[in-house]
Amino acid sequence: MEAAIRKDLLEEISVEITSAKHSGYAEKISKLIEQASREPHTGLALRSPEYLLEKINAGQAVIALTSSKELCGFCYIESWQHGRYIANSGLVVAPEYRGIGLAAIIKRKIFKLSSRLYPTALLFGLTTSEAVMKINTQLGYRPVSFSALTSDEQFWAGCKTCSFYDVLERTGRKNCLCTAMLYKPPIEKPGVS
Ligand SMILES: CC(C)(COP(=O)(O)OP(=O)(O)OC[C@H]1O[C@@H](n2cnc3c(N)ncnc32)[C@H](O)[C@@H]1OP(=O)(O)O)[C@@H](O)C(=O)NCCC(=O)NCCS
Repeated sequence: MEAAIRKDLLEEISVEITSAKHSGYAEKISKLIEQASREPHTGLALRSPEYLLEKINAGQAVIALTSSKELCGFCYIESWQHGRYIANSGLVVAPEYRGIGLAAIIKRKIFKLSSRLYPTALLFGLTTSEAVMKINTQLGYRPVSFSALTSDEQFWAGCKTCSFYDVLERTGRKNCLCTAMLYKPPIEKPGVS
């Protein structure tokens, strides 16, 4: 399909914060993540429909749908150490909607939602994707070492379903194929509005 025609696709797509009305998509999103995780060089942890359903119902996710309600993309919020660290995880765009700027729109929306729900949290991400590194950089994330991320065991346990987990284990969690990126919210000075 020609690039201009593909870009027009974006006008037909709405990117929304999820609510219970999107609960019927949990299964499809889980499958989309699973399919994407099998693509070469993609480090993507699997997520069960039940887990995604919790995020969807809690309004802690963003979904992209066509005007005919076909699923095009998704991302959700995870929080660690009592909300001190936040990750925007599970970013996925269906193959037929890639390369038109949809991931950038989804990421901007979930970034804003995360900043609203957790204004003082450190936002971090782990990614093998050059596209995601570009988007994160535009949002103000910077590359960091793995030691700058959350130490919450549950977060690292989430990497177990990634196909590169053996690398993470071998390096004692110091390195993997993913690049770690961190966004620090601006510090508000007392009395300055
Ligand atoms: C990674 C993914 C979400 C990107 O989605 P997308 O909608 O195609 O990305 P966008 O069109 O918004 O592209 C964003 C930027 O990355 C660039 N980009 C897109 N695909 C790229 C690629 N394969 N390699 C390098 N750059 C790429 C775009 O040119 C754009 O850059 P720009 O701002 O300079 O124009 C999608 O390919 C995907 O779902 N992959 C499988 C799952 C995955 O890897 N998820 C990320 C887990 S962290």
